[in-house]
Amino acid sequence: MDIKIAASILNADPINLEKEILNVKESIDWIHFDVMDNHFVPNLSFGKSLLEALSKKRIKPLDAHLMIENPDKWACDFADAGADSITFHLEAAQDPTKIIKDIHKLNKKVGVAIKPKTSYEQVKELLPSIDVLLVMTVEPGFGGQKFMDDMLQKVEQARKDINKNKLDVWIQVDGGVGYQTIEKATKAGADFLVVGSAAFAASDPEKAMMELRNLAISSSK
Ligand code: DX5
Ligand code: ZN
Repeated sequence: MDIKIAASILNADPINLEKEILNVKESIDWIHFDVMDNHFVPNLSFGKSLLEALSKKRIKPLDAHLMIENPDKWACDFADAGADSITFHLEAAQDPTKIIKDIHKLNKKVGVAIKPKTSYEQVKELLPSIDVLLVMTVEPGFGGQKFMDDMLQKVEQARKDINKNKLDVWIQVDGGVGYQTIEKATKAGADFLVVGSAAFAASDPEKAMMELRNLAISSSK
């Protein structure tokens, strides 16, 4: 598997955001940009203007994780603002197939996310038309929560189906990914790991991100 690491900037220091990202730049492939609207999740985070500013810096590709109501209406705006991949939540979408088509028309990658209570079966049929499946390993809304081990069953099932049908879909795991959990995620079949507080809350984020990357790569072989 080709491991990809995304840094979730939700728990980075907002006043020194650019510095925080540049600090871990060498050990990440993507910047994971959590968009929260205070409705789909009980928290408010960043919006399009910050995404646009970050995209102009061209540090790494941007992976927008939309934890918002009505992605049908808003998803393309995030593509226009500079996201390279846009992931929306299945639970919030009225017409997932249409959103996928709309984003693909803009030549961006598209992902579908499922919350812990949503089964893999509910998203399975969309696999052939998406680029990323995001299996949430915490309830979306906040960084720094505990990784839910029982979500790994979904990752295992998805990995089986993706390999069996030779689909080109990345499996992303988001929430509580750190020293104790990153290897479990890759062993279950995840190849796109989101790392937030495990790196940004560490005393040496640069070192933590590099160590986590190395752990993911060595455990995925
Ligand atoms: C949670 C967000 C995650 C979160 C990850 O709703 O989608 O991206 O910031 O942070 P950690 O790694 O701290 O769980
Ligand atoms: Zn996220």
